[in-house]
Amino acid sequence: MAVLRTVVQETHRRLEAADIPDARLEAEVLVTNVMHLPRQAIFSEQESEVSAQQQATLDSLLERRFSREPLAYILGQREFYGINVMVNPAVLIPRPETEGLVEHALFMALMGMESTDLTIADVGTGSGAIAINLAIHLPAARVFAVDVADEVLDVASFNIRAHGVADRVSLAIGDLLDAVPEPVDLIVANLPYIPTGRIPTLQPEVQKEPALALDGGPDGLDLVRRLLTQAEDKLKDHGIILLELDPEQVPIVQELALRHFPEGATSVEQDLARMDRILAIHRQAPE
Ligand SMILES: C[S@@+](CC[C@H](N)C(=O)[O-])C[C@H]1O[C@@H](n2cnc3c(N)ncnc32)[C@H](O)[C@@H]1O
Repeated sequence: MAVLRTVVQETHRRLEAADIPDARLEAEVLVTNVMHLPRQAIFSEQESEVSAQQQATLDSLLERRFSREPLAYILGQREFYGINVMVNPAVLIPRPETEGLVEHALFMALMGMESTDLTIADVGTGSGAIAINLAIHLPAARVFAVDVADEVLDVASFNIRAHGVADRVSLAIGDLLDAVPEPVDLIVANLPYIPTGRIPTLQPEVQKEPALALDGGPDGLDLVRRLLTQAEDKLKDHGIILLELDPEQVPIVQELALRHFPEGATSVEQDLARMDRILAIHRQAPE
């Protein structure tokens, strides 16, 4: 009879043979998931019996993983900045580097603004992961969570309700800031910024994510350019825009932003890998 320890070993071996990265970690996550155990139970439950039914469920999840479906879609969720968000193939799987965008937005909101009674736009909200965290950590803020497609907003809506912030997070459908009904203090955006030509070279898992969430046009900056134009009417005088970008795009967008906001100032934040990742644009240079 199979027990958890041997099933994890065998699952690890099968994932490794299929060239799946982080095979040991994924084996532990998948096996504990089908057994409805927390991951920490991996040691204390080593000798627990794995039923034939659980093995069959595991086999079907592994088939999906062998076809390079991302683990987060298989599990239906992803942890992001301390909360779990539901994900499905309509939305991008939130990335660890985007946690830096949340952290920086919170820093700006708490330290860089006159009050925390702010209106914020999360443009291209996807699963809602950014908007929800901002609403949780800024209890006086109102957040507009914008996206273009109904199936994306269905996911965001589920997550916003699951985290109890629906009273302060309003969903809006439309093109970037067009969908935001009033000028805001803070615009936070992780827009699609991958150049179209680079998409076929991405990991197979990433290619299973929606093109709408990845493809930023020929140089990756189509949406960012339009956002900056729209922001002229949708950002308050003291307002700030925070963008997640590819490091190579940062100086280009810095220059572009100062053309839109000649009295403004920019600053750059790095991600955990020490890559320039977040551009902050102040509409007016701080005194
Ligand atoms: C890179 S994903 C980011 C998702 C989420 N904010 C995150 O960080 O995990 C970009 C999102 O922008 C949305 N999007 C694409 N074009 C858009 C547009 N014209 N207006 C608003 N959102 C758009 C996509 O549907 C996708 O959800």
